[in-house]
Amino acid sequence: MVERFLTLPEFRRAAKRLLPPGPWGYGAGGAETETTLRRNRRALQRLAIRQRVLVDVRHVDLTTTFLGMELPLPVAIAPMGGLIIFHPQGDCEMVRGAGPSGTLAVVSGVTGWSVEDVARAASGPLLFQLYFGGPRSWVQELLGRVEQAGYRAVCLTVDLQVYGRRERDLVQRFDPRAARAHAPNPSPPDMAYQARLTWDDVAWLRSILSVPLGLKGIMTAEDAKRAVEMGVQVIWVSNHGGRQLDHGQATIEVLPEIVDAVAGRAEIVIDGGFARGTDVVKALALGAKVVAMGRTMLWGFAVGGAAGVNRTLELLREEIATTLALCGQPSVRGLTPDLIRRAE
Ligand SMILES: Cc1cc2nc3c(=O)[nH]c(=O)nc-3n(C[C@H](O)[C@H](O)[C@H](O)COP(=O)(O)O)c2cc1C
Repeated sequence: MVERFLTLPEFRRAAKRLLPPGPWGYGAGGAETETTLRRNRRALQRLAIRQRVLVDVRHVDLTTTFLGMELPLPVAIAPMGGLIIFHPQGDCEMVRGAGPSGTLAVVSGVTGWSVEDVARAASGPLLFQLYFGGPRSWVQELLGRVEQAGYRAVCLTVDLQVYGRRERDLVQRFDPRAARAHAPNPSPPDMAYQARLTWDDVAWLRSILSVPLGLKGIMTAEDAKRAVEMGVQVIWVSNHGGRQLDHGQATIEVLPEIVDAVAGRAEIVIDGGFARGTDVVKALALGAKVVAMGRTMLWGFAVGGAAGVNRTLELLREEIATTLALCGQPSVRGLTPDLIRRAE
């Protein structure tokens, strides 16, 4: 069924037709005026790719290495809570969609399944996204299980000090937390703990983890620098897809200053508005190692479950490969900022 989808925007349109207004708004929406949400896209659109020609591009290599893993694509599925709203098998179904291609998937800290159940459903590599959802003893117990289940790294989300005002949900009277409660293992984190997170907690996490630690939601050179100095191994440039701080900067806009500040001492992931192969190529050229995608994957998921996610990844792969061939770049590993220019 999903083979009839030949372009990525078809999935978004189909998801919009299919989903009731509450779930659609929860997935598509952002905070307040949605300025951050729009800025992510607009900033990507303002960048142009310089086309080089007369390079042999019969074979275009999309593989990369990340935290010592070989990835088939420089792309990851971003963590999304409340996937049960879109599919009865939720997170288990999402990671099944990543499996056939071996794409990296990041499991949300508000999965409605146990971390063990999700790991069992996966055949590709997984990272775990952490919300500080209780006292340190709660976090330590959870992370012990996460490491035991084989997750390759833990990324603490730091841009949800409090929950953003998602006005589409408020207008629809749609409560994603109530919808999530139908999952087999709802045990939601107590988000009140997120408001008191400080760098002390980062140092503590570093001290108890034996897998790499990342921070998701870094948007300034100052914070990136402080994180790498503390031994954080993944700097995840994100504004939560425009769902948290409104009137923030676009992620692609802050990427260069963060790449400078990190200076090769950590791996850089970026997300926020990435919907096309060209978007991915831009971020890689500007210094990101992996581009994570939330909604682009969500639309495939909502339309076709695991098969829809797999098809989305296939189309994305084709777009990235086509873009690289057409700008004369035989590998994602060799991209440099010189490939990109500002344009209106
Ligand atoms: C429906 C939905 C749920 C999300 N839930 C989480 C979450 O539980 N934890 C988290 O760190 N980020 C969460 N995010 C943010 C994503 O991980 C990611 O930062 C964002 O979606 C990237 O922007 P994009 O959707 O434009 O690709 C969520 C995003 C969406 C769309």
